[in-house]
Amino acid sequence: MVTPNLPPPGGVQVVKHDFSGSYNRDWPHRYIKAHLALDYIIPDRAKPVFLAILDRYRAIRERDRLKIVDVGCSYGINAALLRTDMNLDDLYAAYTAIDGPLTGRLSADHRAFFESRNLGSDIRIVGVDPSQRAARYARSVGLVDAIVTTDMEASDPTGAETRALEGADIIISTGCVGYATEHTFGRIYQATAASRPWVAAFVMHPYSYDGINDMLASHGLRTRKMLVARQRRFSTDTEQRSLLAAMLDQGCDSRLERTTGYIYASLYLSTLPNEPIGNHIGL
Ligand SMILES: C[S@@+](CC[C@H](N)C(=O)[O-])C[C@H]1O[C@@H](n2cnc3c(N)ncnc32)[C@H](O)[C@@H]1O
Repeated sequence: MVTPNLPPPGGVQVVKHDFSGSYNRDWPHRYIKAHLALDYIIPDRAKPVFLAILDRYRAIRERDRLKIVDVGCSYGINAALLRTDMNLDDLYAAYTAIDGPLTGRLSADHRAFFESRNLGSDIRIVGVDPSQRAARYARSVGLVDAIVTTDMEASDPTGAETRALEGADIIISTGCVGYATEHTFGRIYQATAASRPWVAAFVMHPYSYDGINDMLASHGLRTRKMLVARQRRFSTDTEQRSLLAAMLDQGCDSRLERTTGYIYASLYLSTLPNEPIGNHIGL
């Protein structure tokens, strides 16, 4: 299956597993099961990296309370991991175990569960996702504080959405670049440029970050590729062959994908050029 809305990264048509039927539902369960089945792990790998980036940003910009914009926030997975002490396995189990605290479908229970995990007030999260039902779930259970559901690939955010984005400190993303391109990131950066936010995005191989990199450079940001992390297992041999062919076509190093059976993502971090960031996240 070819995922709708996901353009091929280069000249090669990519056959990529289609998760889209799980993206826009009232409840996250189908999304969680579909992603657990392919060992989708990138939010878990991203958590300590994002937390280290938040710390570095706090130290350099001398700020305590941060406004984070999560592009492709879905049901608030990154928010749940960043705002609580849970890891992704905890979250998968909470939603899918027979006696899991989130297997039911009562908003008040989900809200109470996350409240009881100490959501904290040192970060405020704005979730961006045109999958309105997913984003509304994230807001209704308190994982994100505001949502932006305009598809910014096609249209500008509304006035209220622009105000929600303003003042952002860091823009983060996992599993979304490809669906969201320089059009979405450009509109977000336009709305937030006054606060010069950093951008930290995990980009699944072999999708290109060039367009977003160029857009951010036009705002004076410098982008570095910091590290590579596991995203998920290949769904089928056909998908593996197709993605490996696309990686070859793009000139991407595919050693990890050829040997482990997993697809990886690269983390790109964009900051102001004079901000003292090394080439590695100190983890
Ligand atoms: C694989 S999911 C990743 C969700 C979450 N970040 C995670 O890692 O668990 C991809 C998400 O991108 C969202 N998406 C699709 N098109 C988008 C767009 N134009 N702008 C922002 N998000 C988009 C989908 O609705 C979906 O929630």
